[in-house]
Amino acid sequence: MGQQNMLKIIKAKKLIGEINIPGDKSISHRAVMLGAIAEGETVINNFLMGEDCLATINCFKEMGIEIEMSNKGKIIIKGKGIRGVTKPKKILDVSNSGTTIRLISGILAGQEFETTITGDASIQKRPMKRIAEPLFRMGAIIEGSEGIEGVGGRRGTGEIYPPLKIKGGKLRPTEYKMPVASAQVKSCVLLAGLYADGKTTVIEPGPSRDHTERMLMHFGAKIEISGNKISVHGPASLEGGEIDVPGDISSAAFFLVAGLLVPGSDLLLRNVGMNPTRIGIIEVLHRMGAKLEIMDEEIISEEPRANIRVTSSEKRVTGIEIGGELIPKLIDEIPIIAVLATQAEGTTIIKDAKELRVKESDRIKTISTELKKMGAAIEETEDGMIITGPTKLKGATINSYRDHRVAMSMAIAGLIADGETIIEDTECIKTSFPGFEDILNRISG
Ligand code: S3P
Repeated sequence: MGQQNMLKIIKAKKLIGEINIPGDKSISHRAVMLGAIAEGETVINNFLMGEDCLATINCFKEMGIEIEMSNKGKIIIKGKGIRGVTKPKKILDVSNSGTTIRLISGILAGQEFETTITGDASIQKRPMKRIAEPLFRMGAIIEGSEGIEGVGGRRGTGEIYPPLKIKGGKLRPTEYKMPVASAQVKSCVLLAGLYADGKTTVIEPGPSRDHTERMLMHFGAKIEISGNKISVHGPASLEGGEIDVPGDISSAAFFLVAGLLVPGSDLLLRNVGMNPTRIGIIEVLHRMGAKLEIMDEEIISEEPRANIRVTSSEKRVTGIEIGGELIPKLIDEIPIIAVLATQAEGTTIIKDAKELRVKESDRIKTISTELKKMGAAIEETEDGMIITGPTKLKGATINSYRDHRVAMSMAIAGLIADGETIIEDTECIKTSFPGFEDILNRISG
C-alpha cells in the first residue's frame, strides 16, 4: 500500500476554521444526467469533482455528449434532448458509483440500443433487481450476472448484479409501489418515465431524498407530487439551464460531529444543503442535545442551503433511538452518527437500517468491527446497531473496506482517540470528498 493510501490521525487539540463544503454528490449526478438529455446548454456551478460524479460525466461522454470542465467546479453540458445520446462504443464503467448505475439505467431503458454497464468490485456486489423489476414492467429487459429480470420464470425471485445488459426501447408508463424507500430506485423509474407515453407514478413507502423531483421541475418536466405518490409525464422535453449545487450535508456531517466532539472547537461550515429530505442528521444532533447555529438560509436552484456554526459541547450529548422514516433522511450519515454515539451518555439504538448492509460495504458490520477495535461498546443487530457510551477510544489500525464513509468516519474517531490511528486504503475518500485530508490538516493546525 502506498503512502497516499493511508491516513495517520492523532488526537486533535481543537478544530478551528471555516470550511466551504464541496458540492452535493446526489445533486451533481442528477445535474449531469438531466443536462445531457435536456435541449441546449446546462451550466453547473459548484459541481462535486469527486470520482463518483466524474464517472457519470464519463458515461455521458461515451454516449456522445460534449461536456466541458473547469477546475473551479464549473461544468458546461451541451444537451442533445432525451433521445440525443448515442450507443457507447465501450462497456460503460461507473467505477464505485451506485447512484450512477441505478439512475442511468432509467435513461438507458428508454434508448433504442443495447448497453452494457458495470463498475468496480464493490459495484459488482450491489443488488440491481430493485431497478430491473420496474424497468422490466415498463418494457426494458435487464440482464445481470445472475439472471435476466422477468425472463424464464425468474420474475419475483433471485437477485441480479452488474455487469448489466440493458435492452431498451419503447417504454410504457407504470405505477410502481417501491418495496424499499430508495431515492435511487425512485429516480431510476422517474427518469425512465420521461421516455414512456403517459403518466408514470412511483409510490414510496416513506420519503427519500427528492433532488430528482426538484431538478426535473427546474428543467421544466411535468411532475405531480401528492403525499408519497410522485408522477412524471412522458414523453418529456427538458430545457437546459443553470444549476448551483449546494454543499453536501453528508460531507458536512463529518465536521459537524468532529466540531462537537473535539474540545475547544469552533467551525463554520459554509453553503450546506438543507433539503428537508436530507437533514435527518440535524434532527439527530438536536435530539442528542447538540447546539448548532443555522444561519443565512436561502433557496437556489430549488435547493435550500445555509451556513452552520458548530462549537464543541460542554455537556456530553445523550443517546437516543433512531429508526423509521428518519432513516432515509440520514442513511449515509449513520457511520458518523455511530462514532458520535460512542461519546454519548447512555444507549443509542439505530434500527430499520438494513439498507446499510448493501452500501459500498456492509456498513453495519464494517463500522461496528472497526469502532470495536478502538474500544467502543457496539453491538451489531440485523437492521442496525446498539451503542453504549461514553467510552474512551484508543488509536488502532483501521480497515476502510474501501468505503469512503467508513474511512472518513473512522478518521474523525481518530481525532478523539488516545494515541495514533492509521486508516488504511483511503483512496476511496476521493469518490465523494476530494480535499478531506487537507481540510482536516488545516482546521487542526
Ligand atoms: C442516493 C440515495 C441513497 C444514498 C446514496 C445516494 C441518491 O441510496 O445512500 O448515497 O443520490 O439517490 P438509496 O436510494 O439506495 O437509499
